[in-house]
Amino acid sequence: MNFLKTMVSVSVIAIASANAAQAEKLTLYCSAQEDWCQLMANTFENTTGIDVAMTRKSSGETFAQIKAESSNPKGDVWWGGTGDPHLQAAEEGLTASYVSPMRDQLHPWAISQAVSANNKTIGIYSGALGYGYNTDLLAANSLPAPTSWADLTKPVYKGHVQMANPNSSGTAYTTLATMMQLFGEDGGFDYMKGLHANINQYTKSGSAPIKAAGRGETTIGIVFMHDAVKQAVAGFPVKVVAPAEGTGYEIGSMSIIDGARNMDEAKIFYDWALSADAQNLALQVNAFQVPSNMGAQTSDSAPDMSSIKLIDYDFKTYGSSATRKRLLKKWDDEVSVLPQ
Ligand code: F6P
Repeated sequence: MNFLKTMVSVSVIAIASANAAQAEKLTLYCSAQEDWCQLMANTFENTTGIDVAMTRKSSGETFAQIKAESSNPKGDVWWGGTGDPHLQAAEEGLTASYVSPMRDQLHPWAISQAVSANNKTIGIYSGALGYGYNTDLLAANSLPAPTSWADLTKPVYKGHVQMANPNSSGTAYTTLATMMQLFGEDGGFDYMKGLHANINQYTKSGSAPIKAAGRGETTIGIVFMHDAVKQAVAGFPVKVVAPAEGTGYEIGSMSIIDGARNMDEAKIFYDWALSADAQNLALQVNAFQVPSNMGAQTSDSAPDMSSIKLIDYDFKTYGSSATRKRLLKKWDDEVSVLPQ
């Protein structure tokens, strides 16, 4: 089906005639990688004639911004970023219910995200957490190749590991939540403390550590595996690791902001973003997540989710407002303050 020639154009014409005098616009908050955000915004603008003002911020940062603006919302759609803060936004009434006519084209995991949040969010892609390392730096420092989460806490890697801050980054919050699920809360915090001793920097954005590894600024970066693959495909000496103990994953999500000023345009974007055509744009920017539309293509370079030992990630618990707030505070109070 050519989505753009059917549903979108019908809706666009209807809205265009209803609001003939007003310029159509959309304020898009984007939490996927910058080049993908830009491509989505430009393609939507060119296809529909709706002007898009897009800003890219990490998942936790965007959540905080939407919350801060909630008495006077400025954004219309939040596209991309890990599902946990989207679920928290839904629970806190920051996002709006919408059941898209595109829903029957989606994988069940994308719909289950919507069902658990009264249709206030929906899955747009998925991807597994892991890490990558710079093979040249590893060799130059005579380091053994790490294969597990436990390896990253070994003293030999002191100063060699980078990850993002879980307050700003959805990737890093997924890491924190994964350790809780792999090792229990006490064991998980012990793990984060052991890891902290080896961390050279907590970045704001989740994918920054593997970009730094690609450039040779850190040896190891904890990231979603698809972000590590992107660096390897770009020609950097990066090896991707699926940790031996098993790992968590994300359901990258999309939500319409409650009280959106451009609600009609927000729904047009939402429907379009769930189409196979829109999701196939990922291939143009080496975004190697698994798309939620069953008809969209997954790159051959994408990590094979079926061969990765995935935990049964508890999105309900770790996307709940109480748990996310509590774990982040505990990480701030008990981990980030420790000497390195
Ligand atoms: O770069 C893409 C990506 O890893 C997405 O898969 C993910 O949803 C998002 O970035 C998370 O970014 P951050 O950790 O900066 O919130």
